Amino acid sequence: MNILLLGSGGREHALAWKMVQSPMCQQLYIAPGNAGTALCGTNINMSVTDFDAIKQFVLDKEIGLVLVGPEEPLVKGIVDLFRKDVSLQHVSIIGPAQYGAQLEGSKAFAKQFMMRHNIPTARYREFDASNYEEGIPYLQAHALPIVLKADGLAAGKGVLICQSHVEAIAEFELMLQQSKFGEASKRVVVEEFLDGIEMSAFVLTDGKNYVLLPEAKDYKRIGVGDTGLNTGGMGAVSPVPFADDAFMKKVIEKVVEPTVKGLEKENIDYKGFVFVGLIKVGDEPMVIEYNCRMGDPETEVVMPRLQSDLVELLLATANGRLDTFKIEQDPRAACTVVAVSGGYPGSYEKGYPITGLDAAVPADSIVFHAGTTTKDGEVVTSGGRVLCVTSYGDSISNAVAKSKEVLKQISYEDMYFRRDIGYEFE
Ligand code: AMP
Ligand code: GLY
Repeated sequence: MNILLLGSGGREHALAWKMVQSPMCQQLYIAPGNAGTALCGTNINMSVTDFDAIKQFVLDKEIGLVLVGPEEPLVKGIVDLFRKDVSLQHVSIIGPAQYGAQLEGSKAFAKQFMMRHNIPTARYREFDASNYEEGIPYLQAHALPIVLKADGLAAGKGVLICQSHVEAIAEFELMLQQSKFGEASKRVVVEEFLDGIEMSAFVLTDGKNYVLLPEAKDYKRIGVGDTGLNTGGMGAVSPVPFADDAFMKKVIEKVVEPTVKGLEKENIDYKGFVFVGLIKVGDEPMVIEYNCRMGDPETEVVMPRLQSDLVELLLATANGRLDTFKIEQDPRAACTVVAVSGGYPGSYEKGYPITGLDAAVPADSIVFHAGTTTKDGEVVTSGGRVLCVTSYGDSISNAVAKSKEVLKQISYEDMYFRRDIGYEFE
């Protein structure tokens, strides 16, 4: 079967790496891809939101399966196009239709869904222009810190944790009245702050049945010890030591099953990933957010730990046959350490040559590309997150040590990576 994968990050390199291991994968195309995905298949210079071009490409290349990496095409309705267009209806596409993609695309939609299905989450209220005035006394009376969330997609910047009432009211005004995050902050969710440790569960559902992929924890802050600015993710580990059997049983009973049943009950067209951002408060799981795609860099540890055939798994998803699928997973730990451009997550230079990529890598490490491209036959940096080095180990710290060894071989101008991924599990 010919397959099209949309996206260009480390997540997509890991998905491509995994899919080409399947005997069912004939031609793999990645649009637009990066210098790493080019090692797994053919990169196509096509935007993930150019639906006309995607349709034409799928027909020309006789694509049987489309895997959507990032959220934007899903939130914009790529799955609806495949459902409605007669010439595309035979193609399997992984991801929810536009309505279900609001689980990620609208925080208010996600909160209302959780309320309807009794899924544990922080208490909250929604505000927009119509009840703005009520928001001020509500915030004044709210316990600190106060969490403000722009309703829509805001490139990971739409969540503010305010330590004072003055700050919360100022940000509330900026979001609702000055369009701080544009359209995304026309509606704001105000919610209670939850104190606990975070992790992520990855559900793959056909809208009725589901499988649970290996769980992971990511490291979002730029600095050692989880300090400094938020990033797209500086590393990830799997499994998550505090997510023991007893806790995961609660996650399944209180979060995963009500979520999948809720999708089915509401007749939501959802054949894809539900990435559940969780926080463990005391011994209880609470949902921080839903995403309608896999995480990045979490995919760079989840795919290496998945032993089942990914193409088979995705086809079972598209065909509503996940009830017959049993996930096999590697018992070893995996970590990924992300090397970024100097200055990231602020401004940074691109185009620096990367050396050391040809050096041999131990059998239990994998170099996934993120922000890389090829220029004049040379691999150069092209984004904030540049490479993700994943390693297996008999412990998380052992896996991290191996990734750091591999990173010693690789270099580019102003390269930076966190040396303490997984620090709390040593
Ligand atoms: P999100 O964009 O929803 O993933 O939120 C970004 C980050 O904000 C999360 O990963 C949490 O670290 C934090 N966060 C969001 N909501 C809450 C909350 N209610 N309590 C504490 N932290 C939160
Ligand atoms: N690593 C978090 C995300 O993919 O949203």
